[in-house]
Amino acid sequence: MAKLGVTLAGLELRNPILSASGTFGHGLEMQHFAPPGLLGGLVSKTVTLAPRPGNPNPRICETEAGLLNSIGLENRGIDYYLREIAPTLRAAECVIVTNIGGERVEDFAELAARLDAESAVDALEVNLSCPNVQGGKLPFATDPKTAEAVLRGVRAATRKPLFAKLSPNVTDIGEIARAVEAGGADAVTAVNTLLGMAVDWRSGKPGINTVMGGYSGVAVKPVALRCAWQCVKAVSIPVIGCGGVGKAEDVLEFLAVGCRAVQVGTSCFSDPSHIARLPAEIDALLEAAGFHELAARIGILQAGGGAPSCKPGVAVKA
Ligand SMILES: Cc1cc2nc3c(=O)[nH]c(=O)nc-3n(C[C@H](O)[C@H](O)[C@H](O)COP(=O)(O)O)c2cc1C
Repeated sequence: MAKLGVTLAGLELRNPILSASGTFGHGLEMQHFAPPGLLGGLVSKTVTLAPRPGNPNPRICETEAGLLNSIGLENRGIDYYLREIAPTLRAAECVIVTNIGGERVEDFAELAARLDAESAVDALEVNLSCPNVQGGKLPFATDPKTAEAVLRGVRAATRKPLFAKLSPNVTDIGEIARAVEAGGADAVTAVNTLLGMAVDWRSGKPGINTVMGGYSGVAVKPVALRCAWQCVKAVSIPVIGCGGVGKAEDVLEFLAVGCRAVQVGTSCFSDPSHIARLPAEIDALLEAAGFHELAARIGILQAGGGAPSCKPGVAVKA
């Protein structure tokens, strides 16, 4: 067996695999498919201060290569989470991360303060893709000053490790990564969904009610990988890769560009048990290649290396 353990923001993970927020319930709903003891960690659906009904249907739409969603952060709010969900997570045999979202900078700090005393929660993930009602409803993640302010507020409210989850829908993600590091983040999650849309050309109806929504799944992996790498280069805190991970090779690719852990989202919808098989599949790949320690594979990217990483048969034409 190769050693698969990684340390992340002071947390010991048995392997680098975490569920991605919003794609795996709050975690334990999926335990019959994926026992927590086989995973590095579980990340909750975004929790907000007040309950949210989410957006009207249709709010999920399958495209040729990936999923479009506009769930609208449906959840029952922090009171319910603390009363009904958190106690069930106390005995979970993996790292528990609660993802938080808000409409105002101060919402995030209030949520962090409420969660600070909850022993079930090992870390918080700050969902910076939420629309900022104080800033023209643009996501917090699109402005470095606002993103930094959110992290500063949360940092002052809790001692728990903080992951800042960034959006790929920006010009320079490295700038946002540096801002959240300055605000006190212990790790960066890169990335949330890409902004996309779908339309039926006969009826003219959009695929989802909000017209535009979050695009995810295997097709976004090259974008997510690029974002993760830009974050790795920009900050000294660890980066958690997220976007399009479906198989063991994908995990090793995110680690190769320097990520310390990886989140698995949309691929859980087609096979929710696969996430729990990934560690064994990674182990088999490493052993077959003669590598005995996963951590030694982190950051092996040879920038400037070129063609050898291309798949055989996929010619790159000038
Ligand atoms: C249906 C759905 C719901 C999601 N809900 C959330 C959410 O509540 N909070 C969040 O931070 N990200 C949410 N995401 C984004 C995922 O956590 C992840 O960042 C994104 O889908 C890219 O990873 P993937 O390609 O592996 O799915 C959601 C994604 C999907 C597909």
